Amino acid sequence: MKIMMAGLALAEALFMAASGGNAGESAAGRKILVAYFSWGGNTRGIAGEIHRQVGGDIVEIELVKPYSADYHTVLDEALRDQRAQARPELKNQVGDLGPYEVIFLGYPNWWASIPMPVATFLESYDFSGKTIVPFCSHGGGRLGQSVAAIAKLVPKSTILEALSVHYSGGSSLPGEIAVWLRKIGIETK
Ligand SMILES: Cc1cc2nc3c(=O)[nH]c(=O)nc-3n(C[C@H](O)[C@H](O)[C@H](O)COP(=O)(O)O)c2cc1C
Repeated sequence: MKIMMAGLALAEALFMAASGGNAGESAAGRKILVAYFSWGGNTRGIAGEIHRQVGGDIVEIELVKPYSADYHTVLDEALRDQRAQARPELKNQVGDLGPYEVIFLGYPNWWASIPMPVATFLESYDFSGKTIVPFCSHGGGRLGQSVAAIAKLVPKSTILEALSVHYSGGSSLPGEIAVWLRKIGIETK
């Protein structure tokens, strides 16, 4: 497992702050991490609602060199990165993923797959034996090939049924998430 020691203390401080004490402890006592990448904020909102319902810790996957804030430019940048199978450098490091049993992994559908920063994230840690729960914000293409792309990167993980949300999900989001969590057997707070 690749651990950047410099990032460890920061990550631990972040997690303690997010969980209000017992790092990563959800209401049901399972160690849960909600990790997400978001360009426009929709996935961030969905991640926040999942975190509200399941507890645990939450962390945003951020880039050293962020994508352009301009929509047309980011379309080109994302396509370029996907074609090159780039691994953009991440700003934050989670530190020790060891204690987490369940990792919710959120991202926008980008060109029918995962944004490449999500690939960097998945290759930066040892996800063997972990349960990964993907969730994806999209503009009509639902999950696309994203779950297959994740499975290829973490062949030793269990991947639960993913949730796809149209853009921000609107007012039905909390209910949609609650139904999905019940279906996949994740306890809520
Ligand atoms: C670079 C890029 C590529 C996209 N590709 C797709 C796509 O292939 N299919 C789709 O349904 N939506 C696509 N979208 C729309 C996003 O998935 C959608 O706007 C999502 O809500 C964005 O989430 P975010 O606000 O967390 O970034 C794309 C958006 C961007 C910026």
